[in-house]
Amino acid sequence: VKKLKSDLDLSLLDMKSTRIYQWTIVSAFVLLISACVNDPIGPIPYTATPLVIEKPLGLPPFEVNPLNPLTVEGVELGRNLFYDTILSADNTLSCGGCHQLAAGMTDDGNAVSVGIDGISGTRNAMPIFNLHYNPSFGTTEGGLPFGGFFWDSRAASLEEQALQPIEDPIEMHNTLGEVVNRLQAHEEYPTMFSKAFGTTVISTDLIGKAIGQFERSIISADAPYDRYVNGLEFWDDDAFDGRIIFNDLLGGDCFHCHGEGGGLFTDYTYRNNGLDNYTKASDFPDQGLMAISGDSADAGKFKVPTLRNLVYTAPYMHDGRFETLREVIDFYSEGVHDTPFTDQFIEFADVGGAQLSEEEKDQLEAFLISLSDESFVNNPDYQDPF
Ligand code: HEC
Ligand code: HEC
Repeated sequence: VKKLKSDLDLSLLDMKSTRIYQWTIVSAFVLLISACVNDPIGPIPYTATPLVIEKPLGLPPFEVNPLNPLTVEGVELGRNLFYDTILSADNTLSCGGCHQLAAGMTDDGNAVSVGIDGISGTRNAMPIFNLHYNPSFGTTEGGLPFGGFFWDSRAASLEEQALQPIEDPIEMHNTLGEVVNRLQAHEEYPTMFSKAFGTTVISTDLIGKAIGQFERSIISADAPYDRYVNGLEFWDDDAFDGRIIFNDLLGGDCFHCHGEGGGLFTDYTYRNNGLDNYTKASDFPDQGLMAISGDSADAGKFKVPTLRNLVYTAPYMHDGRFETLREVIDFYSEGVHDTPFTDQFIEFADVGGAQLSEEEKDQLEAFLISLSDESFVNNPDYQDPF
């Protein structure tokens, strides 16, 4: 009996301490929740001002990214970093040097970009807007790679992507260590980091977050198309007919990959749209997704790009091979190559494409042009602050 009693005492003691332990967890949790409730956009453990972005006209609501919530100070810091040549080895090139607002955040008419050492890359600079909606790298339910950044998916997240051009030997050709040192020794940056993140200690992680915040804040959703679908503008012209062709299985059939849904004009997958006539994976001069996945079935697959702001972002495709929208439309109409790598969603590949009439091409082009947003390329919030 004595033994039983002491066992009982012990287990009571046990229960007591477990309970105290549980209460500590519960109250910590309650504290955390109340901190979150006070802060409508999630816990920001520093004194920066949350930046709330209202639902853009032609896009889904702007959900907060819990890993990198936007603040006024964080976005401002990111914008400074984005336009500062201090990131490049010889202080001559900023991100904005290859991603210019007037060119829809692409590289002003250049098919491929040239880095600080005068060496040409092999790819066309991609536009930077609405990237907040671009999911991080993952796979679809059907197992297709989707989300992620660059033409070939090699950066999983926006914050990770932001650091890569800095070290890319044919872009800014610097080291992250050197950039951290320069920013740390700078007159203003330590204070700006402190305002944005509550610390003057600069790290690559925070540089990625700041640039990521600026990029997430860049939105384009006020094109004639957005005003039309929101009932603010009336259409009875070529763009109206072009929209039908765009969404018609027997017409242009563009929507399978560049779907209108959500106003993003991409499904974020990687596909081979039949640009080239290669029949062996090893023939592709740029293997695209295959270089990352190692799967030869991915040869020549590239990220499906958005179709917004095409008026500003010429030339087109991963290598900038087409200079005009008409060339792109001619390609989808008559120039498609039917190879073992060509995507199944390219209808009529066996006859070279959608076979549109000249009138249909005019209409499709008018629709694509209607996706261009003049207020975006003139938005002072996205301009070079220097
Ligand atoms: C030398 C020109 C150049 C510079 C400088 C440059 N970029 Fe780029 N950017 C490109 C090119 C070219 C691509 C496509 C590269 C690829 O897919 O391999 C690209 C792709 C991107 C993408 C991917 C977009 C998407 O939809 O996947 C982002 C984001 C980006 N750059 C941001 C930046 C940031 C941030 C900086 C500065 C830290 C920067 N770039 C500096 C040329 C440049
Ligand atoms: C099978 C999916 C698919 C279909 C269907 C499709 N595209 Fe594309 N589109 C892509 C991919 C992938 C790219 C990028 C290819 C590359 O650069 O190698 C692309 C690129 C483009 C570009 C270049 C954009 C830029 O920024 O460089 C335009 C414009 C375009 N497509 C318009 C259309 C039109 C118009 C249609 C219908 C006639 C269409 N697409 C049908 C997948 C598709």
